[in-house]
Parts: sequence; C-alpha cells; structure tokens
Amino acid sequence: MREGYGDRSPGAGLDTPAPVQGLNSAVRRRAKLGPVSANDAPRAQQPSAPYDSAFLKACRREPVPHTPVWFMRQAGRSLPEYRKVREGVPMLESCMRPELVTEITLQPVRRHGVDAAIYFSDIVVPLKAIGIDLDIKPGVGPVVEHPIRTRADLAQLRDLTPEDVSYVTEAIGLLTRELGSTPLIGFAGAPFTLASYLVEGGPSRTYENAKAMMYGDPELWADLLDRLADITAAFLKVQIEAGASAVQLFDSWAGALAPVDYRRSVLPASAKVFEAVAGYGVPRIHFGVGTGELLGLMGEAGADVVGVDWRVPMDEAARRIGPGKALQGNLDPTVLFAPTEAVEAKTLEVLDSAKDLEGHIFNLGHGVMPSTDPDALTRLVEHVHTRTAR
Ligand code: CP3
Repeated sequence: MREGYGDRSPGAGLDTPAPVQGLNSAVRRRAKLGPVSANDAPRAQQPSAPYDSAFLKACRREPVPHTPVWFMRQAGRSLPEYRKVREGVPMLESCMRPELVTEITLQPVRRHGVDAAIYFSDIVVPLKAIGIDLDIKPGVGPVVEHPIRTRADLAQLRDLTPEDVSYVTEAIGLLTRELGSTPLIGFAGAPFTLASYLVEGGPSRTYENAKAMMYGDPELWADLLDRLADITAAFLKVQIEAGASAVQLFDSWAGALAPVDYRRSVLPASAKVFEAVAGYGVPRIHFGVGTGELLGLMGEAGADVVGVDWRVPMDEAARRIGPGKALQGNLDPTVLFAPTEAVEAKTLEVLDSAKDLEGHIFNLGHGVMPSTDPDALTRLVEHVHTRTAR
C-alpha cells in the first residue's frame, strides 16, 4: 500500500454531520484575515475576495502579506471531526453528498486557519461518474473491477458531462458561499496516475502492467491517456465553472518514470489537460511524488505552479523548473511526528530555501499522514504565518 490514510478512529461516533458554520474569528485571526466585520457577511457578496488572497497572489507570483499555507490531504483522517462525520458512510458515497463534502472541506480551514481549502473528493470520482466499476477500499485505495488491458477495454471510458457530477457543482456552490475570501482548490488525478489504477486494477509498487502497455503498445497507451486527459479536463472545468479558484493536477505516481518516458508517453496528455483549462485564468498546480528528475518537464506541461516533494530543496527545484513559475512545498510530512522544536527547525529550512522564489506556497511534500497530530498542523500554519509576515 502507498502512503495510506491510516486507521479509522475507534472512538468515532454515529452522530449526524454538524451543520456547516462559517469560519470563526479565532481562525480568521490566525489566518491574518483581519477581524470579522460587517463586510464579512454575507460572504457571497464578496466575489472578488479570493482573488486578493495570499494563496492566489503567491500562485500569480505577486507580493504576499505572508507565505500562504495549505496541506495536501488536509481534509481527512487526521481530523477526529472528519472521522466522526464519515462514520458509516463509504468513501465514494461521501464524495457525492454536497452537504457532507462542504462540511469536510471546511473542517481543516476552521481548525488550522489554512490559506486555502481543497475540495473533498478523490481522483477516481470522475471515473466512477462515467460508470467505471470501481471502489475505494479502506486501507487499500482505489480498486478497479475490470482493469483496462486491451483496446476493447477502452470502451469503458466515455466522455464526462457536467450532469454526471452535478453533486460537485452543487457542493462547490455551497462551499464558495461559506468560504468567502478563502480560495477553494479543485483537483483531479493526472492521466498517468489514473491510468496506473485503471490498468493495474488497484494500487501498485511497480506499475508493471501500465508500463508493459506503455512500452509494448504505445498507440493503445496514448489513446488511453488521451481519453483520460479529456475526462480530467472536463472534470476540472466543472469545478472551475462552479467557483474553484485554482486547480491541482495530482500526478502522484509519475515519479516512477524516467524523464525520457515521461516526456514521450505522459507529458502530452497532461499538457492537454492544462491547455484545456488555460483560458479560465485560474492558477494550475502540478504535483507528483519522487519527481525530482521530472520537475522541469512537469513545469513544461503547462502549470503555473509546480509542487515539490521533500527530496529536493526548494531553491534547487526552482533551478530545475526555471523562471516564470511559483513553487509549492515541501516539508516532509513525517517531520510532524517530531517534537515542535524540530518541526520548527525543519520548517525554517524550507522557508530559507524558498526565500528567493518568485512565488512560494508552503505545503507538505506529500499528503498529511492519517496519524498526524492535528495540533501539530495548526502550530505549523501559525509558525509559517508568523515567520513570514511582511
Ligand atoms: O487533500 C484533501 O484533503 C482532499 C481530499 C483528497 C482525497 N484523495 C480524499 C481521500 C485528495 C486530494 C485525494 C487525492 C488522491 N486520491 C490521490 C492523489 C494525492 C496523493 O496523495 O498523492 C491519490 C493517489 C488517491 C487515491 C486514493 N484514495 C488513495 C491512495 C486512498 C487511500 C486508501 C487508504 O484507505 O489508505 C484513497 C482514499 C481516500 N481519498 C481517503 C480520503 C480522505 C481515505 C478514505 C477514508 O477516509 O475512508
């Protein structure tokens, strides 16, 4: 299994989800959003506010009041309030309930005062929405009933329409009203990472079936990735049109590829996704794990922001990516298991390495691990905000 989400809390209750509430003033103070004033309510009347947020400014490589922070997989198993509202609701079903999605997406914003929310969903949701027989198995990840191995199997993939994911449009409508000036990040899995699940049939360490197709039947592979690019682009468009302020393309497992193979067999499909949403003018973030050797190519694919895992220092990543991009990253998520002083020291290392970047969004080098102490995350947000306040 890959970096998992950890175990379900034995203490999780059976209560129904708490009603969605706006951000409280403590969170706003922590997030340096200023006091709650008459201008804050109703938030729906401030449509331009996310545009001026530190997060979107950093994505655009503009001056920021402080380095913005959010965490990949900030909404999820590290939070007791998440485990509570998810009790008894299968993962994929939870992604299709707009009120629940709204509540889960808001939880880390309320608790940690992060500078952006990430839409609660999963990379396989659009595949489920077009009728692929798959499930997310707890402790395992996405499992596909009929893996795609032949040209005939491609017929499983039809185009995605907004009606297939009407619950996404509905949830983002609810969310943007609640979030006010806090930007919402939409996301999707990149064609390679989606293909890795579809061809393997589930999580893999080696991707032998996917790579066998890539090397053995390049035409079928290219057609598969091209179809996935169209589905992914359609899914991102739904999120942007519903109100997402930025989008992140997760190519989590692209680090398994050599640059020559990435360039030839993967980059064209990811570039097609970025190109398809370029006209909206919302920042496009591109992230993968173990992609030190691919950073330049991942920037070339068309992103405005490149996510960096913890293996490459931010200044070196910037050299590899070249000018004209903001960077996101890159504290090792396991650092959060160390004492506060060690977390702070490692955080300062990241901030120092990122000090000359054109734009920096602080994040972990991969997702929050399920057994992370939520208070360590809250302290980290505060620490980054305090240390970088200008
Ligand atoms: O970041 C967020 O807070 C938003 C939510 C989010 C989820 N999945 C929720 C989820 C995001 C952005 C994802 C993306 C995702 N899903 C990726 C790319 C990001 C990355 O970490 O590289 C990948 C590879 C997946 C596939 C997937 N889905 C895995 C590997 C797992 C874990 C399986 C397990 O049980 O350990 C899932 C399930 C999943 N997606 C959970 C959550 C909160 C856990 C399921 C649960 O809570 O019951």
